[in-house]
Amino acid sequence: MNAQALREETPMAAAQVSDQRSVAIEAHGPRRTFKGEVEAVRDIDLEVAEGEVFGFLGPNGAGKTTTVRMLCTLLPPTAGTARVAGIDVFAEPAAVRRRIGVALQEIGLDPLQTGRELLELQCGLYGILGPQAKARSAELLELVDLVDAADRRTSTYSGGMRRRLDLASALVHSPTVLFLDEPTTGLDPASRLTVWAEVRRINAAGTTIFLTTQYLEEADQLCDRVSIIDGGRIVVDGTPEQLKAEMGHDVVSVALAGADVDATTAAIGELAGLERVVAEPDALALYVRDGAGSIAEIVRRLEAQEIGIGAISVARPSLNDVFLEATGRRIEEDEETRA
Ligand SMILES: Nc1ncnc2c1ncn2[C@@H]1O[C@H](COP(=O)(O)OP(=O)(O)O)[C@@H](O)[C@H]1O
Ligand SMILES: [Mg+2]
Repeated sequence: MNAQALREETPMAAAQVSDQRSVAIEAHGPRRTFKGEVEAVRDIDLEVAEGEVFGFLGPNGAGKTTTVRMLCTLLPPTAGTARVAGIDVFAEPAAVRRRIGVALQEIGLDPLQTGRELLELQCGLYGILGPQAKARSAELLELVDLVDAADRRTSTYSGGMRRRLDLASALVHSPTVLFLDEPTTGLDPASRLTVWAEVRRINAAGTTIFLTTQYLEEADQLCDRVSIIDGGRIVVDGTPEQLKAEMGHDVVSVALAGADVDATTAAIGELAGLERVVAEPDALALYVRDGAGSIAEIVRRLEAQEIGIGAISVARPSLNDVFLEATGRRIEEDEETRA
């Protein structure tokens, strides 16, 4: 049902829905320059509604961690404003800290501690003591599926288990907003899936989540809305569906297998519905309105010029293509950690 229909049928309901979705995070132009030179973050403008999983997607060095650190009060901005949970981040950092949980990229777990000990200690830092700390830790161990490993030293944990323990420790004080900086980078595919499941569970329990990632699939799977950041600026934002739909075309990938980029592009030439050709290291991506309908013609033209190609495939646009279109580059994923 669209918003108009909802309003006509139940005039109060629509108003209440929009009132309830208050803003959990808003940032207007926080900038950060390092050593007066590196403009790590500039012109960031974003709003995250309560209850959303918001994805901040970008390659290495895009400015993700710098943004997270500013929003979490860990780094003063060079300029700009930001509010988290309704509070001015830069004017009232202590009040913001009580309402947020943070899991940063580098995890520092004491290898001799058990998972349960770590959580109870973390509770103590927030004034949760005695039986309350024990109860809260037990609850969190359950939430992140570490009950069986709770009394083992963290040195025996896998990478995925360490990330989940880190997630749990960011949650001891029941924050309303959780910041996760690349929660699955470096994890194997199976551990990545378990972390995704935890993120979904934490969100379902009511926590707004701001998550950074270099994995397009992760943003697609987990996030209600995504901003793509590149070179310290947001280059595109929207729901993953919107971003893909706005592309309005299919992507035909032609693996070059040694063929020359320019010769191949020239051989394909003008093609009905062809909007754009992007050259990648060993493939050509053709943005074409009707991918399936164009393949035969593309192959015919290449054969006519005796250009041999490795493979040709057609796909609906993915977030990968959205990134490529917005920046002219691919997000380089860490090959070792991919499926
Ligand atoms: N403390 C710092 N001093 C100087 N430059 C920095 C510092 N922290 C980050 N940068 C630079 O700012 C840019 C953005 O970094 P970062 O926010 O860590 O990106 P991401 O988390 O997206 O990989 C990079 O060019 C990085 O080298
Ligand atoms: Mg980072």
